[in-house]
Amino acid sequence: MKEQKNKAPHIVSISSGKGGVGKTSFTVNLAAALSKKSKKVLLIDGDLGLANVDVVLGLNVKHSLREIVEEDRDPMETLVEIMPGFFVLPASSGVPEMANLSYEEQAFLTNSLEHITDNFDYVLVDTAAGIGDSVLWFNEWSDTNIILLTPDPTSMTDAYALIKVLHTRYEKNEFSLIINHVKSKKEGNEVFANMSAVLENFLGIKPINRGAIPRDSAVAQAVRNQKPFLIAQPKARASLAVNEICNKLLS
Ligand SMILES: Nc1ncnc2c1ncn2[C@@H]1O[C@H](COP(=O)(O)OP(=O)(O)OP(=O)(O)O)[C@@H](O)[C@H]1O
Ligand SMILES: [Mg+2]
Repeated sequence: MKEQKNKAPHIVSISSGKGGVGKTSFTVNLAAALSKKSKKVLLIDGDLGLANVDVVLGLNVKHSLREIVEEDRDPMETLVEIMPGFFVLPASSGVPEMANLSYEEQAFLTNSLEHITDNFDYVLVDTAAGIGDSVLWFNEWSDTNIILLTPDPTSMTDAYALIKVLHTRYEKNEFSLIINHVKSKKEGNEVFANMSAVLENFLGIKPINRGAIPRDSAVAQAVRNQKPFLIAQPKARASLAVNEICNKLLS
């Protein structure tokens, strides 16, 4: 789908079957971690949920993804710089429902996005939860598909459902799992092992273990203060975990 370029940006989608598992918190902080490592990062807010990227970061959003399609606006004008090297493409006034876009509009959106993403090393897409059209579209567009889940069994079954759709309908075979809200690294590894066994048995998929993030009060505090926890509390356990995930992604 994407043209091969000499130095294509690495496009990473962050999705989950169940909502509220921590996608937005994780993605904002992964973007902060990557930019601290001198990478140029674009975070695309692909979610219309309540705790949107603009809310978590306290942005005053003027333009968004929707206007790129509806008003033919220059996509570069819609970007907001959070800190050096970390930019957000907001979606506060609504992510276009891909099903409602004509073929030409979808092609136009793809072109516009590829025009912007060319300027970055990493593009992170914080998608909505579930298996809606925009989630599937962003996942198909991405090079790396991260699925976030928690030890909660319903989060695991919903993650399985999402992976199954992406595998059967879009022939995606490589999935990276991150387990959020864990009590210990051991719990993270156990949840990964369970999920991995189910995916291998039923779909023949061997997921990649990208790590786990502990349940940590620093996360909710950062949302209240509208600052990434990685910046506000760099020594917090959640910050150390996101840094470790960032290092693995870069290695
Ligand atoms: N590791 C964690 N420890 C403690 N609280 C967390 C952690 N991760 C996320 N949370 C809290 O969980 C709530 C939901 O997080 P977030 O909004 O990031 O989830 P989401 O997956 O993006 O939700 P949605 O599906 O609605 O977009 C927030 O209040 C956040 O502070
Ligand atoms: Mg979210």
